[in-house]
Amino acid sequence: MKGVVLAGGAGSRLRPITFAMSKQLVPVANQPILFYGLYDLAEAGITDVAIIISPETGQEIRDAVGDGSRFGIKPEFILQQSPDGLAHALQLAMPFADGDSVLMYLGDNLVRQGVSDVVRDFEEHQPNAQILLAEVPNPSAFGVAQLDEDGHVYQLLEKPADPPTNLALVGVYLFDSSVIQALDAIEPSPRGELEITDAIQYMIDAGQRVRASMIGGWWKDTGKKEDLLHASELVLETLRTSLKGEVIDSRLRGEVQVGVGSKIVDCDLIGPVVIGSGVEIERSTIGPNTTIGDGCRITDAVIRRSILMQEVEIAHWRLRDSLVGHRASIGGSAPPAFVELTVGERSEIIG
Ligand code: DAU
Repeated sequence: MKGVVLAGGAGSRLRPITFAMSKQLVPVANQPILFYGLYDLAEAGITDVAIIISPETGQEIRDAVGDGSRFGIKPEFILQQSPDGLAHALQLAMPFADGDSVLMYLGDNLVRQGVSDVVRDFEEHQPNAQILLAEVPNPSAFGVAQLDEDGHVYQLLEKPADPPTNLALVGVYLFDSSVIQALDAIEPSPRGELEITDAIQYMIDAGQRVRASMIGGWWKDTGKKEDLLHASELVLETLRTSLKGEVIDSRLRGEVQVGVGSKIVDCDLIGPVVIGSGVEIERSTIGPNTTIGDGCRITDAVIRRSILMQEVEIAHWRLRDSLVGHRASIGGSAPPAFVELTVGERSEIIG
């Protein structure tokens, strides 16, 4: 089996963060979201992996993934000129698949239990396609499945306004080589994309075997800020304390990680908190559920349930539920209360 990881697309829902960077590289617990999927594929024994990239952020993805050796995969990058849909992206990877079955993994999804079990299940039952489902409170934000009494899927709808069930399609799909006919047969949807849900519906209507199973453990699509912060919270649940930097005159509660070369002085760190390397923090309260990227500088601030990317500078402000892009700077006279921000890369906020 080969892997196809989708790391293209427009990332419009995480703007302004994703004006300049790829949404798949936004860090969760200081590691890009995309990396979790690549580790999952390697763990399931899938080492040949095509990574779909866009012209805007493709280079960034190539640089981050490198030769793939840190994950144990051999990546091949495939450029998708415009975000014409998940089925279009998969179609581009068909020559790479070269008749093998494929596991398609959406690069902005996080799957707690990995994909080894579903790969085993697919190999055992040999359906033409296999999908994973999860119960969600907001099904109209996803592809939605309808199952008959025997648990067979008979209808898939992409982001229906009036969802018939609460069963969302998770961003992990397995196909045998017959998917190629479905990809070639479908037409763009009203939003102008070749939808993977339409390709799978085509397979169902053609009498092919489409197997659906419920996902075990949690799953998150990190397309929006709140989902990203929630995903981060879920990943941080398993954090273990590790202090590699200097922690001076500070009070620590819960699980806290401090990276190499960081200096924390007179602070309250309320775990789970991940602080990267080369970070300096003074007289501040950080956490819980907070990730501070490498090289950040924070003084006299309070940061709760937030993600700060690298080299962010914050003085005096109190932030919660915030996402702050690479090299952003927030200072001046701070508002009296906590604020919730999404700040783009290299932005400057002066109160
Ligand atoms: O997360 C699960 C959901 O993913 C499913 O329930 C939906 O059925 C499915 O359509 C998809 O919906 P999204 O709206 O979340 O897809 P999004 O546009 O965010 O794209 C998912 C990933 O694929 C993301 O990492 C970007 C990448 N992508 C997307 C498109 C449209 C590409 O690489 N190329 C593309 O053309």
